[in-house]
Amino acid sequence: MTTDNSGDVRLCGISKTYGSFTAVHPLDLTVPQGSFFALLGASGCGKTTTLRMIAGLEEPTTGTVLLGDQEVTHLPPYKRPVNTVFQSYALFPHLDVFENVAFGLRRRGIKSVRKQVEEMLELVQLGEQARKKPHQLSGGQQQRVAVARALINHPKVLLLDEPLGALDLKLRRQMQLELKRIQTEVGITFVHVTHDQEEAMTMADTVAVMNAGRVEQLGSPTDLYENPRTTFVANFLGTSNLIEAEIDSAAGGDIVLKAGGGKLVLPRARCSAPATTGGKVLVGVRPEKISLTHADEAGGIPEGRNRITGRIVDSSFIGVSTQYVVDSPVCPRFEVYAQNIDRDPRLVPGAEVVLHWNPAHTFGLDAAQDIDAGVGTAEEEGA
Ligand SMILES: Nc1ncnc2c1ncn2[C@@H]1O[C@H](COP(=O)(O)OP(=O)(O)OP(=O)(O)O)[C@@H](O)[C@H]1O
Ligand SMILES: [Mg+2]
Repeated sequence: MTTDNSGDVRLCGISKTYGSFTAVHPLDLTVPQGSFFALLGASGCGKTTTLRMIAGLEEPTTGTVLLGDQEVTHLPPYKRPVNTVFQSYALFPHLDVFENVAFGLRRRGIKSVRKQVEEMLELVQLGEQARKKPHQLSGGQQQRVAVARALINHPKVLLLDEPLGALDLKLRRQMQLELKRIQTEVGITFVHVTHDQEEAMTMADTVAVMNAGRVEQLGSPTDLYENPRTTFVANFLGTSNLIEAEIDSAAGGDIVLKAGGGKLVLPRARCSAPATTGGKVLVGVRPEKISLTHADEAGGIPEGRNRITGRIVDSSFIGVSTQYVVDSPVCPRFEVYAQNIDRDPRLVPGAEVVLHWNPAHTFGLDAAQDIDAGVGTAEEEGA
């Protein structure tokens, strides 16, 4: 490893307003050299605007942009060590694949381009397609030409704005792995914009979840998923069951909560809200962390687990798992995902059940937030 930081992206207080509308609120962000960073958020939250400020295509209203140690806030795009790949690949239709990739080199007056272009085509696995025109390629192949065309300029940072948005779901999944492989191979910083949470989680080392022009939370995919700190992040990234509960006692390492006549335990370390007795907190648990036991067998549930009683209102078998919806006193639509190993045939709509889980899998959020923030904003078109 070197201490080279020339591919760091540092945003210091950058913001963008259009008239009285703020598209991006002052934002501080560091993307370390060589990382795969994703900006994730729903349509209109300011992802493209942020990316365009890094590229130099948009002038920030406030703040500075640094690439490595160089301040580039007022440099034009072509003077920045950055290249961008857009959703519409904008390949030159009259040039073949080879010449599309060679374009950046030729523009700089470089004559002998063959070796570099061939290496690039090898990298994106298009060696065989060099003499085809863009319209003779599949969407995924065109996308790879666009990546090769950007990478041949040896940027320090590659910016990708929904580069897989035009592909169907299956191809998109393939290209996610492909882009990840390319990034690992070239080792430069990738900043990837997407509204697809699965895409961000699959590809990125670090994800920044944006909401209405602000980064709500930043972390590794597992950290964001297991320890969401806002309802928006809890709901936007996967599914969360959120329950409003009252704090019964908050002594020691565990917080005891009252919810729907029962008690739940929440590790204090997993509560991002202030916890005082009598106060409110939103308790969360992910659907796959919950076990479902028929009420007749409730005696066999081990001590020390959080438990809630309810009735199954819906179940859908989706192969690897069955997804249940359970009506309970604390939440009318509790979601539970059970892996299909040994299925209890009694677990059908109408059955009385006990939901139970390890208290360590419970998280606590500030109750002053909208419990439904981020619900249904994660787009699933193409799925
Ligand atoms: N030139 C402009 N003038 C006025 N408002 C703009 C302009 N460009 C963007 N906006 C607004 O700024 C907000 C953020 O836009 P941006 O393009 O960054 O969103 P996004 O997160 O990339 O969304 P999407 O996922 O739909 O691409 C939007 O509400 C948009 O309407
Ligand atoms: Mg956009």
